[in-house]
Amino acid sequence: MNSEILDAIYSRRSIREFTDKEIMPEQLHEIVKAGIWAPSGLNNQPWRFVVIRDSNIREQLAHFTHYSHIVKAARALIAVYIDEKAMYDTVKDHQSAGACIQNMLLATEALGLGAVWLGQILKNKTEVNRLLEIDENFDLMAVLAIGYPQHRDQKSKRKELNEFILKEF
Ligand SMILES: Cc1cc2nc3c(=O)[nH]c(=O)nc-3n(C[C@H](O)[C@H](O)[C@H](O)COP(=O)(O)O)c2cc1C
Repeated sequence: MNSEILDAIYSRRSIREFTDKEIMPEQLHEIVKAGIWAPSGLNNQPWRFVVIRDSNIREQLAHFTHYSHIVKAARALIAVYIDEKAMYDTVKDHQSAGACIQNMLLATEALGLGAVWLGQILKNKTEVNRLLEIDENFDLMAVLAIGYPQHRDQKSKRKELNEFILKEF
């Protein structure tokens, strides 16, 4: 069995503390590329991205979330959107966005980087769009905070498998 993919799934952790090391545009493009290779219903590919390395914009975005310290510490951010004009099915397009974001998180690990999926910032999605000069038909799904991890001591846990499996026939 090739366990590389399983290892990546199990060892990925949300990274919230980053070093100052800069991130290159090519690295961010690779992360976006991994995102767009996620499955989507009808291969609709409803996702759109804003890629941010600019420190001034990062600083301003930090005002829109309770997790400002993470946004400030990250060397790059990727805002993930759904283009509402390109949607064909609300549930399926949102599910596709989730798959896209998970691919992006796994790609950051593969590149030796770390990331955390920020959802709390959606509370201020209108302000985020205004700052990024993004039209309102683009619905913010998440902001990924990305950087080189300060350490890899993050711990996480899951409930037991039998708490999730309702039935087995
Ligand atoms: C939809 C969603 C929203 C999240 N929002 C935040 C957030 O705003 N801030 C944060 O620090 N982590 C956020 N997270 C990360 C979760 O806290 C994290 O995935 C969870 O605690 C499990 O830890 P792990 O990713 O290390 O396995 C979010 C994750 C998801 C999937």
